[in-house]
Amino acid sequence: MSTTKHLIAPSVLAADFANLYDAIQLVNNSEADWFHIDIMDGVFVPNISFGFPVMQAIAKHATKPLDVHLMIVDPDRYLKTCKDSGASSITVHYEACTHLHRTLAAIKELGCKAGVALNPHTPVSLLQDVIQDVDLVCIMSVNPGFGGQKFIERTYDKVRALRALAAGVNDSLLIEIDGGVTLQNAAPLLQAGADVLVTGSFVFNATDPMETVKKLKAVDYT
Ligand code: DX5
Ligand code: ZN
Repeated sequence: MSTTKHLIAPSVLAADFANLYDAIQLVNNSEADWFHIDIMDGVFVPNISFGFPVMQAIAKHATKPLDVHLMIVDPDRYLKTCKDSGASSITVHYEACTHLHRTLAAIKELGCKAGVALNPHTPVSLLQDVIQDVDLVCIMSVNPGFGGQKFIERTYDKVRALRALAAGVNDSLLIEIDGGVTLQNAAPLLQAGADVLVTGSFVFNATDPMETVKKLKAVDYT
C-alpha cells in the first residue's frame, strides 16, 4: 500500500543558480511539500552556499514552506534574520550550539518549527534531554557541506534509535533525512521511521525532476 504521509523537500542547493526562478517554479508545481534551504558559512562546513538575500528572493516566489538548514557556527546571531527572510522551520546543528536548549526556545519564540541536525558522527542519544523541545530532527546521511555525496548506510540504525528515543515523549517529532536520498533508499528510510526526505541532486539532476518528486512522494513503504 502506498502512503503519502511523508514529506519531500527538494534542496535548492542542487538547482542551477543562474535559473533559480525556474527551479522555484518547478518545486511549486511539483508534489513536493517544502523547499529545503541550505545556508553555509565556510566555517562550520568547508563550503559557502548562499545567504539570506538569496533566501529572501526565493521566499518571494515560493508557494511552499521554507525549511532552513543552518550549517553555520553560533546560529543564534541569525535566527531573527532567518525568520524575517521567510523561514517556516529553522534547523541548527547540535555541534554548533553551546546552549541548544536556549536556541530551540528562541526559534519557537519566533514562531518557527525548531529543528536540530546531527552530523554523521553524532549519536541520537545526545538529544535525550531536548527531545521534547524539538519539532524536527535532521539526521545527516552525508557529511554536510556538499550535495551529490554518497548516502551513509548507518543512517537507518540512527532513524530507528531516534524513533525509539522519541516514543511516548514526542510522538509528533518529524525525522528528516538529508544527503544522498534516492528512490533506492527512500522506502527503507521511511520504514525505519523517517518523515521528511530532503533531496537535492537526485531531483535536480534528473531528466524529469517533476516526475522524480512524484515517484518519491508515491514510495511504497508499508
Ligand atoms: C548537504 C546539504 C543537503 C544537500 C543534499 O550539506 O545539507 O541538503 O543539498 O543534496 P543531495 O541530495 O545531493 O545529497
Ligand atoms: Zn540540508
